Amino acid sequence: METPNQNGAEAHIKVSTLNCIDLSNPDIHQSVSLLKQACLDCGFFYVVNHGISQEFMEEVFAQSKNFFRWPLNEKMKLLRNEKHRGYTPVLDELLDPDNQVHVGDYKEGYYIGVEAPEDDPDSEKPFYGPNVWPADGVLPGWRQTMEKFHHEALEVAKAIARVIALALDLEVDFFDKPEMLGKPIATLRLLHYEGQISDPSKGIYGAGAHSDYGLITLLATDDVMGLQICKDKDAKPQKWEYVAPIKGAFIVNLGDMLERWSNCIFKSTLHRVLGNGQERYSVAYFVEPSHDCLVECLPTCKSEENPPKFPPIRCGTYLSQRYRDTHAELSVYNKHQT
Ligand code: OGA
Ligand code: NI
Repeated sequence: METPNQNGAEAHIKVSTLNCIDLSNPDIHQSVSLLKQACLDCGFFYVVNHGISQEFMEEVFAQSKNFFRWPLNEKMKLLRNEKHRGYTPVLDELLDPDNQVHVGDYKEGYYIGVEAPEDDPDSEKPFYGPNVWPADGVLPGWRQTMEKFHHEALEVAKAIARVIALALDLEVDFFDKPEMLGKPIATLRLLHYEGQISDPSKGIYGAGAHSDYGLITLLATDDVMGLQICKDKDAKPQKWEYVAPIKGAFIVNLGDMLERWSNCIFKSTLHRVLGNGQERYSVAYFVEPSHDCLVECLPTCKSEENPPKFPPIRCGTYLSQRYRDTHAELSVYNKHQT
């Protein structure tokens, strides 16, 4: 069936206007109100004055390019392991199996989690463990840059989580507790879209339609447009809007765990990436609570008329399931192993 512009040719897709939270704003009530409005409406907003310098962000992007420009056989030596650390090749991930028939996402990536040594008892758990790093000396400063970003982005995430807590009528430090972001699963993911032109009618996407899994995601992109959101996933046809990159800002979106916590009061919104033929780089930072954290309806989000919509679930269990559903089996890569 030919339905031109069913998913909107580029010219027909509007650019979304999102609220912008200034983390240096001393008027916390204003920040809470802007954030709350964004979370009720679409679950996407910008964050500025977050404390990570533009200069350092440029270094992160430069180092990301330094890695992705390697030949594929070198990158495959750092293929992700069962702990979801390391390189993910093009088509590894299939985010939207209903619409991405027989193919996956036209993006390659690199996962970096919280570093936990192998002899740490937590290394038994999925999502904790040692990272996969390029060999010493081949990419000077690479590991230091990524570790510094990981560390700084977590502080930004915690600052945003405090505003979210207030917006949900919780104590400001609700998400700071040890089982929450005290010992989080936080994953930095470098992404590279190779310049494929997406074609929704053929099921070809940079990243298929999905919502993120955790509490929040911080996203930094270069200046190539590509990210789209769909505020109402049940609308037919679905209406997509671009989210424009803003220099120095993070695009922040809420994940499915926060939707569960908030009993769907706060939205975890469907989004995707369409390639327009230009190469594109982005850096995503996924923030989830600790492995053992029980994600259950918040006391401020339920009432007799509005009982919990989801049963409680452990963060680690939920996350493992979501990764299994969206990533290729590692065994498919055996032929590449040296
Ligand atoms: C993601 C994602 C968007 C982008 O990795 O979950 O939505 O612009 N990325 O790369
Ligand atoms: Ni996403």
